[in-house]
Amino acid sequence: MSKGLFIVKPVEPAGHVDAGEPVEGSLQGEATLKRTLTARQLVLLGIGAVIGAGIFVLSGHAAAEHAGPAVVLSFVIAGIACALAGLCYAEFAAMLPVSGSAYSYSYATLGEFVAWFIGWNLVLEYMFAASTVAVGWSGYLNSLLTQLGLGLPASLAAAPLNVVDGAIVHTGGLINLPAVAIIAAISGLCYVGITQSAFVNSIIVAIKVTVIVLFVAFAAKYVNPENWTPFIPENEGPGKYGIDGIIRGASVVFFAYIGFDAVSTAAGEAKNPQRDMPIGILGSLVICTIIYIVMALVLTGLLPYTLLSTPKPVATALETYPSLAWLKYIVEIGAIAGLSSVILVMLMAQPRIFYSMSKDGLLPKFLAKVHPKFQTPYVGTILVGIFASLLAGFLPIGLLGELVSMGTLLAFATVCIGIVVLRRTRPDLPRPFRVPLYWLIAPLGAAACLYLFWQPFRDHWYLMVGWTILGMLIYFAYGYRHSKLRNRG
Ligand code: ALA
Repeated sequence: MSKGLFIVKPVEPAGHVDAGEPVEGSLQGEATLKRTLTARQLVLLGIGAVIGAGIFVLSGHAAAEHAGPAVVLSFVIAGIACALAGLCYAEFAAMLPVSGSAYSYSYATLGEFVAWFIGWNLVLEYMFAASTVAVGWSGYLNSLLTQLGLGLPASLAAAPLNVVDGAIVHTGGLINLPAVAIIAAISGLCYVGITQSAFVNSIIVAIKVTVIVLFVAFAAKYVNPENWTPFIPENEGPGKYGIDGIIRGASVVFFAYIGFDAVSTAAGEAKNPQRDMPIGILGSLVICTIIYIVMALVLTGLLPYTLLSTPKPVATALETYPSLAWLKYIVEIGAIAGLSSVILVMLMAQPRIFYSMSKDGLLPKFLAKVHPKFQTPYVGTILVGIFASLLAGFLPIGLLGELVSMGTLLAFATVCIGIVVLRRTRPDLPRPFRVPLYWLIAPLGAAACLYLFWQPFRDHWYLMVGWTILGMLIYFAYGYRHSKLRNRG
């Protein structure tokens, strides 16, 4: 049984693929995904997925509660861990240009059981992240509407349940309607086509990057360097300031980087994945890291860090300066746009993971159905849209943010380990992009991701264990028996 559990999917060298070609051979004449995405669109997809709730919502909390002005260093540390993992993703995505991302890479290196475990964790990264960010989106929208005198009644803008101090409490809300609506609307877009989705994403990214540039350009002259001293406040207990606080802050702002890897789920739809995947993954990561470090410097320079613990820290910092009041509204609109593109890319990525898992027989066949006209995995897109909107509309989502980071960090660590394994087992495979000094970079990446994983796991391990047990039950009830690879061999 254990041999079956850890069976490894053989990797064939990918032939050169070109624009417009189908991803995989069309067996019974069924439709396949279409190669249309360019390098520029891939970089924009990455930026679209990355810049969102992490900087616009969580950065203030990380500064006020954990790192102080040194949240800048927290962004640097999380960025380094992501860069190490990003290099490994780039090697895999150029070598295996398929839609399954970390799931497919694990199947080729560490075997089916690990692949399932990682695929299951990617559900946390993509579907749960889409729901979490949709709740943040709803908060920003309703606050903007309220300022215009058009706010929704509280009962229609909050989930009925929340978790406070470990206990489930009733919030008085009925449903988080804006969160459900944004997921439904974006799922509709994903259903229609990846080209349309990428086009809308490009527009949204242009808006959010313009808003960020405006923020930095106009707010920079109001920065008061006194707010940066002490840069690293003295430690006041576990995870509260000092070096320990910087590390805890890094595990919180790690959420801000989630998404650059979603570029790899579009490998099956890239025109020239061998060349463009590394550009998309690493390009978006470098741009976002620079943006985060500059924004964190300006943010902590505008206001004493203790005052930044609000759900809208960027807007809060601007409110302090009456001459910047006009910028506050623009930033809020930019945040709403920014969060929309994160939801868009996450909702695009999830059905493509299911598509790959279903093609391998680990999930039911309907998840691999491709729309005959739009060439999108439409059944998966609809189902993911329904589940994500239920999560966002009705469930206590705050705690799930930690679950999203934990699932993602495990996937990143596995991809790093997979690089070392495949370099040893298949040194012959053509690698259009190679991680430099892989024997150092890949283990360091795995160690950094596991270290960041450990921070939230210490407190919320039961969530992760519960999720894993659910995944194992599904695997043994369905995937183990239907796996194409096992039935072949
Ligand atoms: N990185 C994404 C965000 O910050 C998930 O919203």
